[in-house]
Amino acid sequence: MDMAYIDEFSSRLGLTFDSERVPEHVAIVMDGNGRWAKQRGLERNMGHRRGVEALENIVIGCRKLGVRYLTVYAFSTENWSRPKAEIGTLMNLLSEFADKKLNRLKANQVKVQVVGDFAGLPMLQRLALKHLLDATAQEKELVLNLALNYGGRADILQALKQAARQLTPEEVQNMTEDDFAGFLQTAGLPEPDLLIRTSGELRLSNFLLWQLAYAEFYFTDTLWPDFDEAELFRAICAYQSRSRRFGALAEA
Ligand code: FPP
Repeated sequence: MDMAYIDEFSSRLGLTFDSERVPEHVAIVMDGNGRWAKQRGLERNMGHRRGVEALENIVIGCRKLGVRYLTVYAFSTENWSRPKAEIGTLMNLLSEFADKKLNRLKANQVKVQVVGDFAGLPMLQRLALKHLLDATAQEKELVLNLALNYGGRADILQALKQAARQLTPEEVQNMTEDDFAGFLQTAGLPEPDLLIRTSGELRLSNFLLWQLAYAEFYFTDTLWPDFDEAELFRAICAYQSRSRRFGALAEA
């Protein structure tokens, strides 16, 4: 946590930040790259390129605000239905991100992880990512969890199959919600406290279906390439103004 950074945004935006109530885990649907580009008469690819820059800034912002886990929806299982050229761009950006950002991520003590069907990614991207994951495995300040070739239903289904393979029928019958969560691809991560979706879309789009059960949702019309550290600060302040009850009553 960087108090000078927090004070600067607090006074610039006129918002109060409670350093005792920082969401431990933030999840983001980074939406609106295509529209951002179209508005400027640019190719969609340029929107995705600027989207990666936005992600880099948000990773640094999270680190400074004291967020410990950041999960971003970088490529969904549904994204394979986009034109081949756009899929190619996204895959290129991914390997470029893995190669070029390694040093900056390490310098900021960011550990990168992946959830999703890793085996279904092209070989080049798997190799680049493997190197990034290995090289940052010891970092401790922030976990950047990339959801790649990820689908929430597919995650639940693979968890079910894995549990059925590894457990006896009796153990399956006695399984608790926490036990089940241990088979999800997010095993070991706390559940997200805050979900952010940009670009004015009010959907979950098969993101972390199980894991978002009690998350606070924050939607903004800002398109992802324009989502900057000030916007992140606003989102977290909005989160801090919510009363989280987890189904119980508010405390008196
Ligand atoms: C949604 O915008 C965004 C995506 C489908 C991909 C998100 C990917 C990035 C931000 C960059 C890749 C990430 C890494 C880690 C290299 P959209 O294309 O659906 O926008 P639109 O709804 O305006 O068309």
